Amino acid sequence: ELKIAIVGAGSSYTPELIEGLSEHRETLPVKEIVLLDINEERLSIMEGFVKRYIKHLNYDVKVWSTTSREEAFTGADFVSTQIRVGGNKARIFDEKIPLKYGLIGQETTGVGGMFNAFRVIPVMIEIAKDVEKYCPNAWIINYSNPTGLVTEALNKVCNVKIAGLCAGGMRPRWWAAEALNVPEEKIYYDYLGLNHMNFSYNMTIDGRPVTDEEFSNIIKKCTTVSQDWMETLHLIPSQYTQYYFHTKERVQQLKEQDKTRGESILELEKQIFREYADETNDQKPKTLAKRGGGGYSKVAIGVMDAIYNDTGKWMVINVANNGTVRFLDDDAVIETACYVSKNGMKPLTIADYPKAIVGLVSAVKNYESLAVEAAITGDKDLALQALVAHPLVRDYDIAKPLLEEMLEAHKDYLPQF
Ligand code: G6P
Ligand code: MN
Repeated sequence: ELKIAIVGAGSSYTPELIEGLSEHRETLPVKEIVLLDINEERLSIMEGFVKRYIKHLNYDVKVWSTTSREEAFTGADFVSTQIRVGGNKARIFDEKIPLKYGLIGQETTGVGGMFNAFRVIPVMIEIAKDVEKYCPNAWIINYSNPTGLVTEALNKVCNVKIAGLCAGGMRPRWWAAEALNVPEEKIYYDYLGLNHMNFSYNMTIDGRPVTDEEFSNIIKKCTTVSQDWMETLHLIPSQYTQYYFHTKERVQQLKEQDKTRGESILELEKQIFREYADETNDQKPKTLAKRGGGGYSKVAIGVMDAIYNDTGKWMVINVANNGTVRFLDDDAVIETACYVSKNGMKPLTIADYPKAIVGLVSAVKNYESLAVEAAITGDKDLALQALVAHPLVRDYDIAKPLLEEMLEAHKDYLPQF
């Protein structure tokens, strides 16, 4: 019987995770779920709601909350981490400040993503050290962004088992299942790249390659990138590659929007938390559907199930490269298709590398590894090198003052600098 600790349980995503666990109660015998957060107000609202919600779901499990990692982690089998250091307030700086310099303002891509990593990595290291101490055999199921950089940092400085997750890797499968009306388990593909910078190709259904017509129908689901460009590439890209392939247009759109995504979410969450706090309410708020992170619980529970039940499932996860992609370092974390079993994630062999995107993937990985090193050491020179290495920044004259302004804006959450 399993004990699961949820770190950052005050997040609005928590009930979806609970719902997923309840749907898998036959295969995942959870006896205890511990909710952990530093925000005691949100934590107590969430504890109250989750207790009503499991009753509503007829889900027999012990739920309690604490602010102590020692209490939460002792005896845990899985530690799910979903933290946002500085909250959406800090995210809004990541979205707004780069735009002043004519660069993409986004929580995972470009300079915003780098600062997200700078804030989250030190805290995730503390959490991982406590996992080492109190539940060394537990798996960390990480959803904290930027998930690839977080995973690489933990691999570097801690001795923990970690799965770096994002629903994005499974999206081509879900898109194809929907577009072609076939069960998702029949769909496989090669997957090359990093979190939010990746490409799927060589897709098969029941072992046969998808036709050109089927391919065209699948890519219609990827609404953020030019259809023509995807036809030309003949690859299914991450939605986030829009920031690389349509940079100028996206910068313009982001400048023109009246609210950033983070600002909208601050408002949405007020509504969502009012509903969570309502003691007569035992169901998921409808507003939650407007919140991103869809597929979150599906992937998280998929991994727990594959590990616990040794199912040998095919899943896309962030793991150390270890020779999978020949043009990247062994300790570089990549997002790739894996075989998941009780021994963890085993990356599958990639048959070929599409030349059109190899340079981009290498360049972004190079930036990421510099940024991870800077996040761990607090070395400002490395941070500047990372920024200039980023293909969306590249210009020293912009990077230099931008770095200073970002360091200043986020200084409360950057103890390492
Ligand atoms: C997707 C991405 C996540 C991201 C989330 C943002 O699921 O893959 O990496 O964090 O969307 O959702 P939000 O509602 O916060 O914009
Ligand atoms: Mn993601």
